[in-house]
Amino acid sequence: MTQHFPDNFLWGTATASYQIEGASDVDGRGVSIWDTFSKTPGKVVNGDTGDVACDHYNRFAEDIEIMKDLGVKAYRFSIAWPRLFPAGDDVREERGFAFYNRLIDALIAADIEPMVTLYHWDLPQALEDKGGWANRSIVDAFAKYAKACAEAFGDRVSNWITLNEPWCVSWLGYSNGVHAPGKKDFSLAIAAAHHTALSHAAASRAIKSVRPSAQVGITLNMTNNNIEDHNDPEVLAFAQLSDENLNRWWIDAFLTGKYPQNLLDTYGDLQKDVIKAGDADLLKVQTDFLGINYYADGFVRSARPEDKPYIEGGFMPFPQRVDTSAPADLANSLTAMGWVVTPHGLGNLVTRVHKTWPEIPYLMITENGSSYEDVVLNGEINDVERTDYLNRHLESLQKAVADGVPVKGYFAWSLLDNFEWAEGYAKRFGIVYVDYQTLKRTPKSSAKRFKEIVSTNGL
Ligand code: NOJ
Repeated sequence: MTQHFPDNFLWGTATASYQIEGASDVDGRGVSIWDTFSKTPGKVVNGDTGDVACDHYNRFAEDIEIMKDLGVKAYRFSIAWPRLFPAGDDVREERGFAFYNRLIDALIAADIEPMVTLYHWDLPQALEDKGGWANRSIVDAFAKYAKACAEAFGDRVSNWITLNEPWCVSWLGYSNGVHAPGKKDFSLAIAAAHHTALSHAAASRAIKSVRPSAQVGITLNMTNNNIEDHNDPEVLAFAQLSDENLNRWWIDAFLTGKYPQNLLDTYGDLQKDVIKAGDADLLKVQTDFLGINYYADGFVRSARPEDKPYIEGGFMPFPQRVDTSAPADLANSLTAMGWVVTPHGLGNLVTRVHKTWPEIPYLMITENGSSYEDVVLNGEINDVERTDYLNRHLESLQKAVADGVPVKGYFAWSLLDNFEWAEGYAKRFGIVYVDYQTLKRTPKSSAKRFKEIVSTNGL
């Protein structure tokens, strides 16, 4: 039986500026925190940087041709803040604006709808020097930047994502330090979590002030925590805290202006003075859609003797002792990232989100995809596992949509192999292979399969 998606389902591919653009010191671009971080020895595998990446800055016309051939209707990309405002202040770099104008115009000419992410992790270094997302002054700076983007591009761009994965920005950037700026301090992470939520609201209002009909959302990395031991209070407490910390924080903020009280109690003194009187009014904002990035489910079960209180790992300030390792039956088919493959999780997640927050008008899968070690054979890449991952996740999504969950689009991560943050170029997520020596692009089998799915609007 053919499984179809609704008419007008928005099929797309996704990328992010620092991961693909390269041209890091061209046309007046300022330094971002990822330039600094990737050039700090020991932070990124093989010392890789985004200096050249896929050279999309110079090759975007070719990349649009590839998308045209795939038949996708939309392209999600991000704007590099330091290209437009190199020092993160009010001083504009017109060559940066000109680049995104060229890109947007070329997309429209190819009949591909641009979907813009304003922040996909490349903060101007000058702002980080003032404390970055942990300093409340970022909220105003981000709203001004968002407004400038809406003014410049909003005549042609109607879909906006304020921030990509603010959980990663906050917790990977400021708590366990595996991402830029590499700080390790729970209270900075909590401050960043609050300031990203305030920034989403402030930027949404700023965009709407100049483009009232724009669709504005936020993209969160979400998952399901599968509880394996329902009788263990530590497991239940941990699962609830993780859900609040990862999934609910930003959603509750824009819907209600408040954060989960249980989580605030756990943060205790760590969050003292961060949230100010009156912030509830600032946090609450009309959000037109929720973008979801989904990769894999999580698991939590009773602690093994070797499991220490979670807080001791220095990542989350949670005192529980639990085991979050991959279940045995999934552990032998991990992706190259070491992530489990749980396709039913995508359908379960969107169903749960819609049930829990029916007031969110619609959802978009803004990222989903997998990393595997690709083999080039006679110039072809037969990525069976990635293709299988794609098929199975879309089957799961289609069922949920057919059951009435309002998901309006799906963006494959990623159009191209690219700079996978702390993993550098060692991990490939593209449906199109990139030879980093020659920068030649070759669509993999998964791209051919995606093309088929897009053209038939089904599986
Ligand atoms: C989510 C991030 O938004 C993206 O930048 C990253 O490459 C993928 N996950 C894969 O890890």
